[in-house]
Order: sequence, then structure tokens, then C-alpha cells
Amino acid sequence: MSKLFVSEHPMIQSKMAMLRNKETGSKEFREIIGEVAMLLCYEATRELPLADIEVETPVAMAQCRVIDAKLAIVPILRAGIGMTDGLINLMPTAKIGHIGLYRDPETLNPVEYYCKLPSDVEERIVFLTDPMLATGGTAEAAIGFLKDRGVKNIVMLCILAAPDGVKKIQETHPDVDIYAAAYDGMLNDHGYIVPGLGDAGDRIFGTK
Ligand code: URA
Repeated sequence: MSKLFVSEHPMIQSKMAMLRNKETGSKEFREIIGEVAMLLCYEATRELPLADIEVETPVAMAQCRVIDAKLAIVPILRAGIGMTDGLINLMPTAKIGHIGLYRDPETLNPVEYYCKLPSDVEERIVFLTDPMLATGGTAEAAIGFLKDRGVKNIVMLCILAAPDGVKKIQETHPDVDIYAAAYDGMLNDHGYIVPGLGDAGDRIFGTK
């Protein structure tokens, strides 16, 4: 079963209060999403593999360790893009892919309308971003599409997670760990997380 990590860090909790506040405007909202994403990324990268290297300091040789893994960031369009800057700040050598999905109105099946990934994505640890893990339908499908392309190592990063979404990922992709800044107990009839923070994409891009 995949792990669900929900941050209890005071820094993240304070920033979540600002994100949830309906008076927080787009500019501030976007900046805070990036900051929370960066703090979550710090938690989600704790177990990355390390390699030993020797570095010459101005004084002597030092035994050091550096991250020994190829990384990728893949935001799910559109709201996932809001988390990219925060992650790239911590992982500047990561490649960035994008994946876009919509739900077919008749079959209700997720259809991929855009996908551009690093050519060697199957060799990379992929940090998949979507701020709101609500029903989990989109994330489940996005993970499936990444696996179809040979990706073996996926970590899901979201700002807010809800029980339905977490359950769906844990049941369908038990190898994918989920990192969230907060966990809310329910969805409303429109599939919005309650109390949530509203429509993350609209608030990030000012399209409300
Ligand atoms: N997507 C959002 O932007 N907000 C929600 O509450 C659920 C899905």
C-alpha cells in the first residue's frame, strides 16, 4: 500500500491558512502554492538515493554525498503547473514534462489531450503534481499514462488531499506514494474538497 504523508509542519500550516482564505488574491495565492510545493518537495525527496563523492574544500578533501537519481517534474494541466516553480527551485536539474487530460462526456473515461515528457522519462523518478487530489480520477489516469510509457517510479505531490482521491490512488497504484500539505475529510456534490480552498486552477491563474 502506498504511503500518504500529510505535513504537520508549522510553516506549511500557516501557508495553508492563507491559501484557504477566500480573500487571498491570485498573485499571493500563486506565490504561496509555489512555496508550499517547495516545502512538500523537501519532504518527498528525503529518501532519494545518494552517491559518495570527494570534494576539495579550501582546507582539505571532504567526503560528501550527492543525489544519485535522474528526476522529472510532471504537472497535470492546468493547475499542476502552479507547483512547478517550487519544485524546480529544489531540483534544478530535473526535466519537466506535461500531461493534460479531459473526461469524455459520454464514456466519462479520461482522455489524454496533451503529453510531452522527457525522452528518458522511464529512467527518472517522476514527481507528478496536481494541487487538488479530490476524486482522484485524473491523477489515477495520469499515473496510468506515465506507467504506459515505462515510468516505474512515481511520487504524487498535492496541496490538498481528500479521502476519495487517496483511496483511489492507493487501490489502483499502490506503488505511488502521496505527499499532501493537508487532508480534508470530504467532497461536496460538485466534487470540490470541503472546506478546501476553491478552484485551485482559477485561483492560480486568476480566471475566476
Ligand atoms: N479541483 C479544485 O480546484 N478544487 C477542488 O476542491 C477539487 C478539485
